Amino acid sequence: MSGSHKTLHLLFRVPLLLRRGIQQNAFTHRTMEKPYILATALGAPGGIYQVFAPVIEKHFTIVPNEEFVQNRELFADKIRAVFVWGGALKADRSLLLLLPNLKVVVNGGVGVDHLDIPMINSFGVKVCNTPHVVDNATADIGMALLLASARKLLYGHNFSLTHEGQDLPESSMGTDVSGATLGIIGMGRIGYKVAKRAQGFEMKILYHNRNRRKAEEERAVGARYCETMDELLRESDFVMVVVNLSPQTHKLIGAKELAMMKPTGTLINISRGLVVDQDALVDALQRGVIQAAALDVTYPEPLPRGHPLLELPNVIVLPHMGTHTVETSQVMVERMVTNALAVLSGAQPPDEVKV
Ligand SMILES: *[C@@H]1O[C@H](CO)[C@@H](O)[C@H](O)[C@H]1NC(C)=O
Ligand SMILES: *[C@@H]1O[C@H](CO)[C@@H](O)[C@H](O)[C@H]1NC(C)=O
Ligand SMILES: *[C@@H]1O[C@H](CO)[C@@H](O)[C@H](O)[C@H]1NC(C)=O
Repeated sequence: MSGSHKTLHLLFRVPLLLRRGIQQNAFTHRTMEKPYILATALGAPGGIYQVFAPVIEKHFTIVPNEEFVQNRELFADKIRAVFVWGGALKADRSLLLLLPNLKVVVNGGVGVDHLDIPMINSFGVKVCNTPHVVDNATADIGMALLLASARKLLYGHNFSLTHEGQDLPESSMGTDVSGATLGIIGMGRIGYKVAKRAQGFEMKILYHNRNRRKAEEERAVGARYCETMDELLRESDFVMVVVNLSPQTHKLIGAKELAMMKPTGTLINISRGLVVDQDALVDALQRGVIQAAALDVTYPEPLPRGHPLLELPNVIVLPHMGTHTVETSQVMVERMVTNALAVLSGAQPPDEVKV
């Protein structure tokens, strides 16, 4: 008896609760608007992909840059954060002057050489990036470039598309990865992950870094430290550049360094900024000073059509795809949100970039 009473009671109450819920939602919605962020258009070329919009919209109202440009007065005072993704939206002085309540510029990705951090800080605005979360994907693409270049995958694919037969010319032979020597320049988190992967391919691993790693860390991946970069360049079959761009690494690899490499050597660049002197590289590849190059990044990006690097058959050029996976992109966007939320709540963000 009391059971059916309860049921009746519940039936009666549900609509009331629901009604109250709706009212409350409407109320909170009105009083607690989500903070506004300015971002490159979602889904537009160069913008944050539409699939990640819910991650951001859970916490923020997105003002796409195109809308902002057309309606600056409407949004300027409200925008609290700028999400930089790719090159389409520039967090330069002219933009910052328009946003009096801006608190943070969050960069999707690690490299921030496109941001003038002291200038941005001078507006009382913090800069954050998304380190760590890109490490796996970046190390993976380093190995992908190494393997693709060594085994001439692009040549083989094109051959399949353009030839009926199977008779491969002599020049199509690749070079073994197993047993070859890999020299890693820059043994930070990403460099170390490259070493781990290369260990699985039974490569000999050399590395050069400002600071030597602990003996047990070296042992764990079977890596040998080279005091000088020269030693590494001379002994390696594959040289992978994994350093950050800094005044010390600007044009770290020039004509002199390329000349030290084996004539059968391959240079793989997953680094940042103008770490490799590109003109010297073109020259070295054309004259056969080194055998091949595989680059995730170039200067400028993208390379102009007809650039000599694009004409060379022994070069692989990717359009900066190091972190370009579904999982890593999603985690990067989540990390951007975490950083922005921290700054807006007055807390120290996990990934503030300071100079
Ligand atoms: C890299 O991938 C491994 C395996 O999924 C995971 O345990 C680790 O947390 C990842 N590291 C980073 C920095 O994302
Ligand atoms: C693909 O193969 C064809 C036929 O050998 C050749 O003419 C063309 O240049 C190749 N394209 C590339 C991108 O290598
Ligand atoms: C090496 O990579 C960086 C970006 O990661 C790029 O800016 C630089 O120009 C690259 N060098 C070459 C020769 O591709």
